[in-house]
Amino acid sequence: MMQQGKRESKLHLITAASLAEIDHWIAKYPADRKQGAVMAALRIVQDQNGGWLTNDLMDAVAEYLDMQPIEVYEVATFYSMYERDPVGRHKICICTNISCMLCGSSDIVNHLEQRLGIKLGETTEDGRFTLKEVECLGACVDAPMFQIGTTYYPKLTKEKVDEILDALD
Ligand code: FES
Repeated sequence: MMQQGKRESKLHLITAASLAEIDHWIAKYPADRKQGAVMAALRIVQDQNGGWLTNDLMDAVAEYLDMQPIEVYEVATFYSMYERDPVGRHKICICTNISCMLCGSSDIVNHLEQRLGIKLGETTEDGRFTLKEVECLGACVDAPMFQIGTTYYPKLTKEKVDEILDALD
């Protein structure tokens, strides 16, 4: 029977700056509840890695927070802000939920797909843009809207979309 060996540490994959940032979040929880920082930790290592999570990085987060890897994978696969494949420099998260749909999100999606030459879920060949369909982002009053990075762009029209994309590197 094969012996279950001790897992090799992957903590070295998290930079010192990321660890310091994760520690900041861990400090918000009781000492025996540091797992509460898992969502922040995943966001931090995802940012460190150009916008997506590798299995090794998720394992490193599990190790740092004393969690089972599967518990971290469950969080990373449940929430739409985590990526498990490489994404473009700008990830356009377009809401197609009810308010945005009623206010014309399908026109915005069509315009984006035509302009970028990709479909929802794809990344442009030059690695600049990823187009991602997401559920309600809690900004229904500004429908139709999308999020790029940490910025929400409200009340979109095709013209506004062109202006926004033109201004990005
Ligand atoms: S339905 Fe689009 S932000 Fe709520």
